[in-house]
Amino acid sequence: MRTQVVIIGSGPAGLMLSQLLHTHGIESIVLERQSRDHVLSRIRAGVLESTTVDVLRQMGVSERMDREGHPHDGMRIAWAGRDTFFVDTYKTLGRRFMVYGQTSIQEDLFAAADRRGQPVLCEASDIVLHGLESDTPHVTFVQQGEARRIDCEFVAGCDGFHGVSRKSIPASVLKEYEKVYPFGWLGIMARVKPLPDVTYANHPRGFALASYRTTSLSRFYIQVPLDHSVEDWPDERFWPELKARFPAEMAEAITEGPSIEKSIAPLRSFVAEPMRFGKLYLCGDAAHIVPPTGAKGLNLAASDVFYLSRALAGWYARRDAAGLDRYSEMALRRVWSSVRTSWYLTTLLHRFPHFSDFDQKAQEVELDYLKSSTYAQAALAEQYAGLPFEPEA
Ligand code: APR
Ligand code: PHB
Repeated sequence: MRTQVVIIGSGPAGLMLSQLLHTHGIESIVLERQSRDHVLSRIRAGVLESTTVDVLRQMGVSERMDREGHPHDGMRIAWAGRDTFFVDTYKTLGRRFMVYGQTSIQEDLFAAADRRGQPVLCEASDIVLHGLESDTPHVTFVQQGEARRIDCEFVAGCDGFHGVSRKSIPASVLKEYEKVYPFGWLGIMARVKPLPDVTYANHPRGFALASYRTTSLSRFYIQVPLDHSVEDWPDERFWPELKARFPAEMAEAITEGPSIEKSIAPLRSFVAEPMRFGKLYLCGDAAHIVPPTGAKGLNLAASDVFYLSRALAGWYARRDAAGLDRYSEMALRRVWSSVRTSWYLTTLLHRFPHFSDFDQKAQEVELDYLKSSTYAQAALAEQYAGLPFEPEA
């Protein structure tokens, strides 16, 4: 087989990239290790920045999002069970978020791929990238017991944190930055009416978050120790603990119901630089991980593939390599901005087991300052909204 771009991974990064390349008339083949059902069953965050909404509209995959998604204007922060304030990105910057689940985005992207006849080869194992520093890279893999090969001009590594793409870059070239946090998030989905705002709570018992997918589907999270498992958290234990972490009037507004999904994820910040090696370009979780506080992961995947598709379009239309040469530094500027914001929000809103009295006091003073200062709120709104895209030239 032969194509212009081989895309490794059919998560949001891989499928958004194949769709964007298609709008520029560039051919691709997507290779995925898992089955399509497996990819579609994953539940992740669901808050889209205005830039991500624009990218989805530009690629023609926004029809259901525009119909079923819920625009919202920012985030509410509560702490110590008493105070709340609203960080308003719409009032500050004129930019709104959209609440629309990543699972729905994956469905929309697979449907669009099917409509245009995009090859997405699932259950492909033993993927190996070859000749990345040459003009003739190729990818080998095994599908249904058969060894196969695709020759191409570029490889896009969209295969998440555990994929092969980043590992194909020599260690001497790659610089990795990592921070591991001493807790995880237990998340549940329940068919109950949500609170009106996406609300983050800092409480002596630990962090909690109220979010939603639709007017009758809620998503809640609580901070838990790293050694806990979902078996430690039956619904009867979860609901009182969640409510104990919100101010009384919000706790009263939370409707309980049976959980339809429950999972625990550890929190980590990670960045690998550069995001390019020869003909290989990394996008999304393959190059960086953010803790979920602020819901930046999917949004960074969207900005990476926006920059990469624009750079490849410049190459194929005009043989102009400037965008490709600048891809890594341009993508990383936006990545680091959101890595910093999600680290800041994680540090501001969680209870750290090893915090000294000094650290704890400093966190509370920071929250007091944010609540009292419209300037501080405007600065946070600007960071939470995500950097605007940089122009091409
Ligand atoms: N070969 C082929 N595919 C692979 C391989 C491999 N060796 N390793 C992993 N994959 C696939 C995974 O099965 C997955 O479907 O790559 C895909 C990567 O998808 P994600 O992990 O969703 O990463 P990404 O597309 O970058 O999305 C980033 O979405 O998943 C969230 O938390 C993530 O919000 C972030 C955003
Ligand atoms: C979610 O809705 O799943 C969500 C919202 C906000 C976050 C993280 C996750 O910061």
